Amino acid sequence: MERLDKFLCDSGAGSRNQVKVILKQGRVTVDGVPEGSGSRKIDPKTQQVCLDGQPLSGWRRVVLMLNKPAGFVTATEDKREKTVMELLPAQYRALDVKPVGRLDKATEGLLLFTNDGGLLHDLISPKKEVPKRYYARHEGTATAEDISAFADGLTLGDGTVCRSAVLECIGQGESMITVCEGKYHQVRRMMASRNMPVSYLQRQQEGALTLGELPRGQVRELTEEELAALECWQK
Ligand code: URA
Repeated sequence: MERLDKFLCDSGAGSRNQVKVILKQGRVTVDGVPEGSGSRKIDPKTQQVCLDGQPLSGWRRVVLMLNKPAGFVTATEDKREKTVMELLPAQYRALDVKPVGRLDKATEGLLLFTNDGGLLHDLISPKKEVPKRYYARHEGTATAEDISAFADGLTLGDGTVCRSAVLECIGQGESMITVCEGKYHQVRRMMASRNMPVSYLQRQQEGALTLGELPRGQVRELTEEELAALECWQK
């Protein structure tokens, strides 16, 4: 047995406050009978809950893309810092989504969230080698030697061995970097190891997903096509 308001939130009906309103508006039925009390206990196995006549399952998978601004840590909570969770509308926080992997506090760009534990696991698993593409502004300019050092697999100052990565020089002090793993401060450390310390870093792509025109600080759900594109990482 569980509370009706929690069941409605988990089904994606809205945030806790939105669910209160929905209940007051008389849009929810339990076994066909209108129900206005969120504290009412229901058994989802034997009872049917409908919103505006549509049956609810009690769980809605959601995958979100955020264009993360600098200044937020990738964590579900933190005592001192602002977290990326604060950038999500309440109705998504109510669905218990978690960040997929992490971006540093200073890094901007594409960050996914999901409440699907299996998908989360697959996308961050080093075995899946999901490519992530970054734009970097940095000191110096990438040379042919830097590009081949990235391709060969860099060894960082502390002995960390990186897998083969793609470095593209796109201008003076500007590069694109594609890595298939997610070690701590990886891109910044790789660039620093080649004397190109990074002053600005933005993730633009993860697998087939691109940030596109999503404004900084904004979040959106993935489209059906984007969700289908994620499936290749789930085998
Ligand atoms: N590499 C970094 O150094 N920082 C990030 O946030 C992501 C990749």
